Amino acid sequence: AQVLTVLGLESSCDDTASAVVRFGAPTPIASSVVYGQTALHAEFGGVVPEIAARAHAEKIDLAVEAALQEADITLDAIDAIAVTAGPGLIGGVLAGVMCAKGLAATRGLPLIGVNHLAGHALTPRMTDGIAFPYVMLLVSGGHCQFLRVDGPDDFTRLGGTIDDAPGEAFDKTARILGLPQPGGPSVEVAAQSGDPKTFALPRPLLDRPNCDMSFSGLKTAVLRARDAVIARDGGLHEAVRADLCAAFQAAVRDVLVAKSRRALALCPDATTFAVAGGVAANQTLRAGLTQLADEAGLPFCAPPLRLCTDNAAMIAWAGAERLALGARDDMTLAARPRWPL
Ligand code: KG4
Ligand code: ZN
Repeated sequence: AQVLTVLGLESSCDDTASAVVRFGAPTPIASSVVYGQTALHAEFGGVVPEIAARAHAEKIDLAVEAALQEADITLDAIDAIAVTAGPGLIGGVLAGVMCAKGLAATRGLPLIGVNHLAGHALTPRMTDGIAFPYVMLLVSGGHCQFLRVDGPDDFTRLGGTIDDAPGEAFDKTARILGLPQPGGPSVEVAAQSGDPKTFALPRPLLDRPNCDMSFSGLKTAVLRARDAVIARDGGLHEAVRADLCAAFQAAVRDVLVAKSRRALALCPDATTFAVAGGVAANQTLRAGLTQLADEAGLPFCAPPLRLCTDNAAMIAWAGAERLALGARDDMTLAARPRWPL
């Protein structure tokens, strides 16, 4: 088949990213550049939309240039432009969409808008070439849902969090326990020396026969446990903090594994169980999900971390898959802050 060279742009949250993907080539990722904004937002304890939008507008052209350079090509070699058109922070999405429109218009190239969640959900096809249909667990700082994926434009949401995303719960737990951000990695490191059985934390919604989850109560339970420990010991000793981290991590894993079991049961024809999102980096969670896939007799697919977290290669890939189906956008492409799959 013919190779389609697609330039991707991503700016929906706090990463400004661009990438070149050769759709149809044996190794599709020609380049992937990600400029993070963690330092810009650090002092505010969360992503500040106005600061993010300004930084995206300033960095997006540089990211595109760097992606072309890393792929060792110029715009002449690009067949199409793919851009995240939502969901996300509107200022950031707009910065990407405007840049993509400018490139497409001046170069006379096809433009394709991509749903950020579809980008995550199609990543295992780019990295491992897995076949439809498959079940995807998307777990990040902002998202948590199960998807049945039947095609590049064919997603069924099987369930998801009704409040916080797990990454958010990791970040809040880290804050409660005085550990640095991002909370996921620091809680995971602290948990290594802890005993998960020391604290009995809740496993919310496991009694409901669906794929819905809740993580905000878990964070409140951690807060209560911390306060009880401080009242008892006069402070939070490192060993006790490790136990709390381990207990929290085990609770998140148990909920995600139990609900994954249900999601897989809903899709008996699935070829693969796949994960994406920053929380998929967690080794305890990965072990639980791997074991579950084994039990279900399915291959487990977890893309490399730099492609699990926000990047533009996944956007270029998802754009290419949609283009191959004949989809196209034009200069009326809108930035959508909300855009369910
Ligand atoms: O996918 P991502 O980079 O960004 C979006 O949310 O879009 O995910 C970031 C989230 C953060 O909440 C971070 O704490 C969490 O992923 N995370 C982890 C780990 N590494 C990152 N959570 C648990 N364990 C980890 N090792
Ligand atoms: Zn994301």
